[in-house]
Amino acid sequence: MKFFIDTANLVQIREAQDLGVLDGVTTNPSLMAKEGITGHDNIINHYKAICDIVEGDVSAEVIAIDYATIIKEGEILAALNPKIVVKVPMIKEGIRAIKYFSSKGIKTNCTLVFSAGQALLAAKAGATYVSPFIGRLDDISTDGLGLISDIRLIYDNYGFQTQILAASVRHPMHIIDCAKLGADVMTGPLSAILALLKHPLTDSGLQQFLADHAKAAGQ
Ligand code: E4P
Repeated sequence: MKFFIDTANLVQIREAQDLGVLDGVTTNPSLMAKEGITGHDNIINHYKAICDIVEGDVSAEVIAIDYATIIKEGEILAALNPKIVVKVPMIKEGIRAIKYFSSKGIKTNCTLVFSAGQALLAAKAGATYVSPFIGRLDDISTDGLGLISDIRLIYDNYGFQTQILAASVRHPMHIIDCAKLGADVMTGPLSAILALLKHPLTDSGLQQFLADHAKAAGQ
């Protein structure tokens, strides 16, 4: 399973990259705003800075919701760097745009996906990635992981190549469950990735090893 970090924070992206397990980055307009990145030039420069840090795919979201402007924005974003994946919302105009981008060899990430039917449409349009938001579904007492399972079944039934990018991941159990269900990618905060490191028996075992070593060495 590929690990993407879901942030526009360059410090956190560098930390995840330094860990050596990062496969890419996802951003969205809210995450960009959180970092105070506003204005066309600043946004473009920020995407370039992210691409300079990571080796894998970097999702950059269009703001437009009409077909012509989605295409215009997407082509500008895609031209920035081969790592850029144009993130397009799951709307009618978005599906049309994904079909167009796919025909031009431009990578896409269909975002704001909350149902299996939406994921089926994204795959038929040729999306590179589909982003089901599991945390936001859980927030409204709906089974986010169940959606990952449904999409996996549908895509495998027909051999769709669209990669399932489990998004809105909130904690380490989401990551583990997504891996069990066969999600191709997960995107989440640095805290969820780092939480995978933690086990109390690792901590106590390491303390014991170091103490025994020190004792034997007469320290
Ligand atoms: C997906 O790419 C989105 O950026 C993201 O995962 C949304 O997560 P949130 O529900 O934590 O905002």
